[in-house]
Amino acid sequence: MEKDVSYTVVRANTLQDIEEAFSCGLIKLYQDIFSDPPYEEYFSSDDVTSLFHSYFTSGISNPLVLFTYLGRQVIAFCTAVPFDEHWVDFEISDFNMAGGYSPETHGKTIINSCHEYFKRTFDSTPENTWYLDELGVRKDKRRKGIARCLLQACLTELNSKNVILRTSDSNNQAQLLYQNLGFHHIGGLYTQVSHKRLDGSVREDLRIIMLRQTEPVE
Ligand SMILES: CC(C)(COP(=O)(O)OP(=O)(O)OC[C@H]1O[C@@H](n2cnc3c(N)ncnc32)[C@H](O)[C@@H]1OP(=O)(O)O)[C@@H](O)C(=O)NCCC(=O)NCCS
Repeated sequence: MEKDVSYTVVRANTLQDIEEAFSCGLIKLYQDIFSDPPYEEYFSSDDVTSLFHSYFTSGISNPLVLFTYLGRQVIAFCTAVPFDEHWVDFEISDFNMAGGYSPETHGKTIINSCHEYFKRTFDSTPENTWYLDELGVRKDKRRKGIARCLLQACLTELNSKNVILRTSDSNNQAQLLYQNLGFHHIGGLYTQVSHKRLDGSVREDLRIIMLRQTEPVE
């Protein structure tokens, strides 16, 4: 652990707070974080601007947007939104009945809507379930507990909500972090994310789904 270094976790509540984070390095931070394997994703400045603006311009009710500041620099972010079809929408494939994922089984068991699956399986609604959208920590500040601290702050805010997330099949460090905070990997459930990569290609990558379920409140 670094000594005598103070990190501040700040919740963004307005577009102005997002602009402040942009002026403190958020755009480059986001681009750098997802430029490495397993993602190697390309995001233009406009992409990152639109993403963070959208939390406050698309009618999302009470988005949770947290930044970690070190002095005047944003060094980490964590965002979550209600699991509502207006803001979160992806297809999931359930390979449990197909004997596991393989190139042969891929595509044969598409469940069109993640909402349909989670409603049926976990009785999820936008009121009781949130979606962890983004999490990242500056490369030179990793393994200092910053992600754990941000995520804990996020889960504390979300209190008794269930939380769903997607992460790369090969992102072992993130998976470990999530497991340690009570998420479990829903075996056999996958989603594909198609995105522009740094080499200019557009590729799909496989993401697993993790869920943190809270006990029902009596
Ligand atoms: C994943 C990520 C957010 C972790 O951030 P971090 O601040 O380094 O994580 P923390 O220091 O809070 O680590 C908490 C726990 O996660 C696990 N972990 C994190 N990084 C790890 C690594 N490189 N190797 C093994 N375990 C790791 C460990 O269990 C760790 O606890 P420990 O240090 O007590 O062993 C960061 O590596 C990152 O930004 N990666 C790129 C973006 C990304 O993958 N985002 C998640 C997308 S879903």
